[in-house]
Amino acid sequence: MSAEIRIPSILKIGGGAFGEAGALLAQLNCKRPLIVTDPFLKKQGLADRLLKQIEDAGMGAAIFHDTVADPTSTVIEAGVHVFHEGGHDSLVSLGGGSPMDTAKAIGMLAANGGKARDYKAPRTIPLAGPQHVAIPTTAGTGSEVTRFTVVTDAETDEKMLIAGGVLTPTAALVDYELTLSMPARLTADTGTDSLTHAIESYVSRKANAFSDALALTAMRVIWRALPTCVREPGNRQAREAMMLAATQAGMAFSNASVALVHGMSRPIGAHFHVPHGLSNAMLLPAVTAFSVGAAAERYADCARTMGIAVADDPTNKAADLLVEALYRRNAELEVPTPKQYGIAEEQYFAKIPLMAQQALASGSPQNNPRVPTAQEIEALYSACWSASARVRPTAGGVRSTR
Ligand SMILES: [Fe+2]
Repeated sequence: MSAEIRIPSILKIGGGAFGEAGALLAQLNCKRPLIVTDPFLKKQGLADRLLKQIEDAGMGAAIFHDTVADPTSTVIEAGVHVFHEGGHDSLVSLGGGSPMDTAKAIGMLAANGGKARDYKAPRTIPLAGPQHVAIPTTAGTGSEVTRFTVVTDAETDEKMLIAGGVLTPTAALVDYELTLSMPARLTADTGTDSLTHAIESYVSRKANAFSDALALTAMRVIWRALPTCVREPGNRQAREAMMLAATQAGMAFSNASVALVHGMSRPIGAHFHVPHGLSNAMLLPAVTAFSVGAAAERYADCARTMGIAVADDPTNKAADLLVEALYRRNAELEVPTPKQYGIAEEQYFAKIPLMAQQALASGSPQNNPRVPTAQEIEALYSACWSASARVRPTAGGVRSTR
């Protein structure tokens, strides 16, 4: 079976790419872009710099800066209203995953009408939206190059995955200089999200030769560059490497899909408002331990590529070394467990059956090398609860030493 690859038509990568936004929009024949950003970037002035650049290039534009951390259907409907009322013909998203995902959903509803929930995966999106130039300010969600958006239904609190090639932005400006001011926690969390994208796309049942190459390159770079970016925020070389690798990881998972970590991560984010990268980090070591036995060769490739195992290490040993390294990395990056994050124990455990159901319904766990049952997902959520939890791969299921 062939793999359908979707990536933006234009990628501008490197320091200073942000300054080319106006020229790029003109080149795309956009007349009246709507800038979609968050209140922080509006206040801090970056959105206004973008607006000026676009106006200087001879276009009219406006800023929609009401995006929220987990894009809701309410905010998206407000954005669609602004898009139509302002007579806009294109979108420019500026920010992390939330503004980019918001812009994708605004474009989708502007072209197709209806509500975000009408397009929840696995439903398809009939019409392509307006042209969309994505400018990420984190490294990152990879949303600037993916065919996905995640929208929280304001009525049910469900974090819905919406997927379709038409959601892939027309162009992306990938400028690492925009990430130099990211604080350490955000750097660590968004970077671990990228690492998760790279590993999950490489072990995904939908992996293909195109996504493999990007995933391996991305994980090799991210493993080395991320701790440097966290320790030395102003290290331009590390930031530049991290930014490109995050985009490559985005292209990998957009064309291979994510798997169990993301499937389980979205419900934690939706119910307990844990940032996306952080909930991935909370789950990544335990879910990897659960999965390695089903694709030991692939996980061993990851370990060798990341420099965690050497070429001569036997496959199973290399895969186990990966699991251990992921636990160590979480300690190094001070990733809290759900308990340490401050989630109430009773609420967490009460939500586990529902979270397991929602994880399975998203479809992502079905891409995992080891496809879990609802009970196995529940056991993994339990095992991830506290700091002492360690999940070991076993033939018969999940064993926690908690
Ligand atoms: Fe992600």
